[in-house]
Amino acid sequence: MLHLPKLIGHRGVKGLAPENTLASFKKAKELGFSWVEFDVMLTACGEAIVFHDPLLRRTTNGKGRVARKTYAELSKLDAGTWFNSEFVNEPIPTLQQTIQCLAQLGLQANIEIKPTRGTDIATAQKTLEIIHEYWPQQLAKPLISSFSQLSLATVYALDSSLPLAMLYNKLPRDWKKTAEAFNCVSINLNQKYVTLAQITQIKQTGRLVLAYTVNDSQRAELLLDWGVDAVFTDYPLPNFC
Ligand code: G3P
Ligand code: MG
Repeated sequence: MLHLPKLIGHRGVKGLAPENTLASFKKAKELGFSWVEFDVMLTACGEAIVFHDPLLRRTTNGKGRVARKTYAELSKLDAGTWFNSEFVNEPIPTLQQTIQCLAQLGLQANIEIKPTRGTDIATAQKTLEIIHEYWPQQLAKPLISSFSQLSLATVYALDSSLPLAMLYNKLPRDWKKTAEAFNCVSINLNQKYVTLAQITQIKQTGRLVLAYTVNDSQRAELLLDWGVDAVFTDYPLPNFC
């Protein structure tokens, strides 16, 4: 079973540093987080990078679709200044660079596979290839999650030893079938829609429940009282860290 803290830093610590950058992981560590979540996407040339949106506009000084750019193009972009000039020239990290940073920091991770259209299998394959090559022995195995069943199925077929989590916005009726198919250890749900009944049902199957994204201490306390095991947060919530 996974040993998770109550708070997991979302995209590093998204509220206090530019999301999904090495600066964000370093800040999360500084603030006392022991686990972070981040998103993995593929570039046009098949590199696995840590990035959230399909478009570059919101979190970089670039334009266009991430999936249409090569890593050589993306590596020139500034993914920090949009957040704050303190983070000028902060690059988009590759998954490999991110794992090396986590190893140095001693930070555990939930890796969310975030395929763009039609890349569910390829994104999962590449993520796994990099994990197999670079994941350090001193860290616990990463929790791998995805909204894409096809991505999770791909990971499960290639390496059934990694802990998996199915991600949902709203829990569907057939969640148990999917969870059993990939031997999911956790179901990760949107905190806006999750109910006590759903949490109880999932916990009865021996699985963990994680909820995203909780930026309010009272809400976090309520969800944890309901049985949620950990919440993803953009900030170190008072009374928790
Ligand atoms: O993994 C939890 C959360 O990150 C899922 O949503 O859109 O922030 O990747 P999103
Ligand atoms: Mg995510």
